[in-house]
Amino acid sequence: MEKEICILAIESSCDETAAAVVRNGREVLSNIIYSQIALHTEYGGVVPEIASRKHIEKINQVIEQALTDADKELYDMDAIAVTYGPGLVGALLVGVSEAKAISFASGIPLVGVHHIEGHISANYIENKDLEPPFICLVVSGGHSHLVVVKDYGTYEIIGRTRDDAAGEAFDKVARAIGLGYPGGPKIDKVSKEGNPDAIHFPRAKVGNSEYDFSFSGLKSAVLNYLNSCRMKGEEINTADVAASFQKAVIDVLVEHSMDAVSKYHYNKFAIAGGVASNSALRRAFEERCKEKNIAFYHPSPVYCTDNAAMIGAAAYYEYQKGIRHGFDLNAVPNLRLGERI
Ligand code: KG4
Ligand code: ZN
Repeated sequence: MEKEICILAIESSCDETAAAVVRNGREVLSNIIYSQIALHTEYGGVVPEIASRKHIEKINQVIEQALTDADKELYDMDAIAVTYGPGLVGALLVGVSEAKAISFASGIPLVGVHHIEGHISANYIENKDLEPPFICLVVSGGHSHLVVVKDYGTYEIIGRTRDDAAGEAFDKVARAIGLGYPGGPKIDKVSKEGNPDAIHFPRAKVGNSEYDFSFSGLKSAVLNYLNSCRMKGEEINTADVAASFQKAVIDVLVEHSMDAVSKYHYNKFAIAGGVASNSALRRAFEERCKEKNIAFYHPSPVYCTDNAAMIGAAAYYEYQKGIRHGFDLNAVPNLRLGERI
């Protein structure tokens, strides 16, 4: 029988302090997430300094809980995995320092993981049959990438945002219509009461780059619409604005993704990242993939937003390739996908 590989994974790149134990890349034995959302809500967004301090306060507790829930000891672990970029530098440093300290003290190997690679790998957890190659749309608070997953750990980015990330657009528009932080889940919820065809917002085309995205024009169009209603003294229907904005984002994400799937002749398509938990987005992709006879994969919402189980899944495939990091591993806030440091 093949030896089983257990990985303790740590994630602290933004405002979630998370640890998980993952067996053989696909089986989550524990998944602990301490969300700082409530702490940042009063500021309308993540405050990096507060995030770092809270990570320091919570990280040991979260790791201990992950081992306890998995019914494992530290010495049962084959590797300590940690997100080392991209993300907020102070926040990343907490996880990286913690992972290095545990690895140094225990002698258990250290594996650094790219955060986006983690998001993509979240798809492996519940879809046991999913294997590369496939196309993945990664839409989170900081990233909007259309990626060809050629093999485990081998990626080609074919589209990216030129300005705001999809999640960032959700958060900014939510703030403008008075829904507060974090905007994505709130827009998702109120949109269910609204008419997505009530207001026509633009679907941005980006120059000669077929798969790139741009969301800042859409955000401005929403702000202009709100200002013009206020100037004319017209009532604003928040649910209609939210639903129409959401549809404009989804239309572009779906069109670009389906074009890529056709062009690259893949019959597998996956989504990942916080925005991938959006209910209307999931429905739209489900329908289009069914029409095109393409297998559609998506993680459960808890594995879409930041978590450490996805880092453990990605780390397994890195570990199997023999990738180990030294104690000189550093936080890399702008680490590129596919780049290994
Ligand atoms: O992946 P994630 O947890 O963190 C980053 O790596 O950025 O993504 C967070 C983003 C936020 O912008 C949040 O508003 C968005 O994901 N989000 C959603 C939904 N849930 C979270 N956006 C749209 N609909 C949702 N249901
Ligand atoms: Zn993320």
